[in-house]
Amino acid sequence: MLLDNARTAIGANLWYLLGYIIHSLRGVKLGPGVRVNPRARVAKGCSLTGTVVGRNVSIDAGSEINGGTIQSATIGRYCSIAQGVLIGPTEHDYTQFATSNRLVGPTPQPAAPVIEDDVWIGANAVILRGVRISKGAVVAAGAIVTRDVPPYTIVAGTPAKAIKKRFPTEAAEAEAVRKFLISAARARAFPGSSAQREAAI
Ligand SMILES: CC(C)(COP(=O)(O)OP(=O)(O)OC[C@H]1O[C@@H](n2cnc3c(N)ncnc32)[C@H](O)[C@@H]1OP(=O)(O)O)[C@@H](O)C(=O)NCCC(=O)NCCS
Repeated sequence: MLLDNARTAIGANLWYLLGYIIHSLRGVKLGPGVRVNPRARVAKGCSLTGTVVGRNVSIDAGSEINGGTIQSATIGRYCSIAQGVLIGPTEHDYTQFATSNRLVGPTPQPAAPVIEDDVWIGANAVILRGVRISKGAVVAAGAIVTRDVPPYTIVAGTPAKAIKKRFPTEAAEAEAVRKFLISAARARAFPGSSAQREAAI
């Protein structure tokens, strides 16, 4: 038993070490405590600290993830994900005679959550499977997101409900979208700090 456990621990660590090497060679910024599956797709320019990244995860350019576990998800550009967030945990089929996968076999899983561009997820939030968090949305600290979140909407609580919009009018929202697209395009053309980008433009 001890040997089995040791083998599992070594196997998983070597697998994640491979992911760490692959992603750091691709220019992803990896801080302490990161475990990134080699089959995850993490774009250049992303920054991960203390995060466990599962195999069916895709993270687009410029997103920063500061801890927590992403079991399954598609994450867009320039998202900010705080400490202790859990995204896309697996479900168990509670309609069967038992909930344990050891007795009933693997449960078919709902789709991985989709998190669009410019989403900020506060500390310790949980994002369940099958959910889409649209661009510019904010998830408050400690929220449990069970339903789709519309664009530029701030949600909080358990289950998460809209508490306000980020911008007072549709015109202000459209202006934010325009600035985001220009800024993201500039960041792609001139990678580096915002000061370096300003100097280059
Ligand atoms: C969501 C958030 C950004 C909203 O900030 P805000 O605009 O200043 O919100 P307000 O203080 O105006 O709150 C509006 C309402 O939402 C409630 N609310 C705010 N945050 C909440 C939360 N995390 N959970 C539940 N309700 C919350 C407030 O109590 C208030 O309710 P009321 O109108 O009944 O009094 C902020 O509360 C938050 O959760 N920030 C996340 C911080 C974090 O995790 N940072 C990690 C580092 S990246």
